[in-house]
Amino acid sequence: MDNAGVWAQFSQQEETSYFDGVALLPLAERYGTPLYVYSAAHILAQYHAYHEHGREASVALHYAVKANSNLSILQLLARAGAGFDIVSGGELARVLEAGGDPKQIVFSGVAKSDAELRAALRAGIGCFNAESRFELERIAAISEEEGVVAPIAIRVNPDVDPQTHPYISTGLKENKFGVSMDDALALYQYAAGHPALRVLGMSGHIGSQITTLQPFLDALDNMLDLAATLEEAGITLTHIDMGGGLGIVTPEQTQIPQPSDLSAALLDRLSATPYALHLEPGRSLVGNAGYLLSSVVGVKDQSGHHFIMLDAGMNDYIRPALYQVRPAFRNLSHNQGVERRSEMVGPVCETGDTFARAYPMSAQAGDVLAMAGVGAYGMAMSGDYNSRPKAAEVLIEDGAARLIRRRQDVAELWAQEIDYLS
Ligand code: LLP
Repeated sequence: MDNAGVWAQFSQQEETSYFDGVALLPLAERYGTPLYVYSAAHILAQYHAYHEHGREASVALHYAVKANSNLSILQLLARAGAGFDIVSGGELARVLEAGGDPKQIVFSGVAKSDAELRAALRAGIGCFNAESRFELERIAAISEEEGVVAPIAIRVNPDVDPQTHPYISTGLKENKFGVSMDDALALYQYAAGHPALRVLGMSGHIGSQITTLQPFLDALDNMLDLAATLEEAGITLTHIDMGGGLGIVTPEQTQIPQPSDLSAALLDRLSATPYALHLEPGRSLVGNAGYLLSSVVGVKDQSGHHFIMLDAGMNDYIRPALYQVRPAFRNLSHNQGVERRSEMVGPVCETGDTFARAYPMSAQAGDVLAMAGVGAYGMAMSGDYNSRPKAAEVLIEDGAARLIRRRQDVAELWAQEIDYLS
C-alpha cells in the first residue's frame, strides 16, 4: 500500500466496494452518513515510508497534529514511535491525552499565547519553534518564572516558492511565518546569550501539498548557508527541521515523490553536515488514508444543470470551497445509470457548498458515495455551520472497523450556550 493513487486501497469484490479489507456500504448503514473512514495500515505505511530511505542517518518525525487530530490516530502514531508537531494548547492537551511523549513534541505557530507557552514548558516539550523576537522574549521570561531552560529552534522564512496554492504557501518573504533570513542571526545571538534559552535547531516549513522535491532542497540550501553563518558566530545547531509539506496524489496530480524520496534527498544534502534531520509531515501520512462517505439526498435538474445533492456539506469538508480542490468520487451503490456531468453539492445554504462541477457521475437518492483523499484537513477543519452535527469517524485496522468518534448529538450543538430565559 502506498501513495500510488487516490483509490489505491479500494477493491471491488462481489459487487461491493472494500476499503482495506472492509466493505464500506455496511459501515454507512451501521454508523450513518456523513462518515469519515480511515485506514490504520495506510497511515502506518506512510509513516514507515519516511524511514525507508536507505541512508545511514535517521530522520525524526513529528506528525503535524492539525492534519487530523483524532485521539485514536494520535495513539496509533504514538505507538509507532512518532513525535508530534503542535500549534496550540489544545493540540498539546490532545497529544498528552493520547499518551504522546512530551520530549518528542515540537511547538510551531506564529502567535503562541503566554498560557500555551507555560503549559508546554510545564509538560517538558522537546522544542519550541519560535517565530519572532517577541516570542523568544516571552519564552525566556516564562522559563525564568518557571525555573527551567527552554529548548528552542528558530523558524526561518527560507524565501522559496513551494508552487502550491497561495493559502497554503508559507515560505515566501511576504508570508507572516517565521523570521526573515536577514534577521535570523541577531535572534540566534539573543537566544544563545540568554540563560533561559537553549538553542537546538532551525526550522523552515515552506508550505503544503508540495509536489516536487526542489523547493525543499532550495530551502535547505538557504538554511545551511545560515547555519554556516551561525557556526562562524559560535552558535552550533543540532538539528534542521524542514517542516511538513509533502503532497499526496490527487486526481489532478498523479506524480508525487514518495516520503522515502524526500527523506533520502534531504539526508544526502545533510550528510556532510553535523545536523540531524527533523520533519513534520501531516497530509502525507493521513490524506489518502481517509474517505468521506455521504448519501445522496436527491437529484435535481435545473437550468441545464444536473445537481447531485449529498448529505455531506462544506461544514464536513471545506477544502473544495476554500482551496478549489476537486475531490474524486465513487458511487458505492453500483448505480447502473448513465453518467452525467453533475454538480456535486452539499446541503448548506451557500453556492460555495459545491464539491465538484461537471463531474461525471450517475447517482440517485439513497446511493452512498465515497469521496477520496480527505483524511487530512477534512474532519480537522469541519464545523457545525447551519447547525449540522459533526460527522462520525471510523478507523479500519486488521480488517475490522472501529468507531473512533461518535456522531455529534444535536443537543451538543448548543451545549455551551446559556439559555437567555433562565
Ligand atoms: N509544520 C508546520 C509548521 C505547518 O504549518 C504545517 C501545515 C505542517 C507542518 C504540516 O504540513 P503538511 O505535511 O500537512 O503539508 N488546511 C490546508 C493545509 C494547511 C497546512 C498548514 N500547515 C489544506 O487543507 O490544504
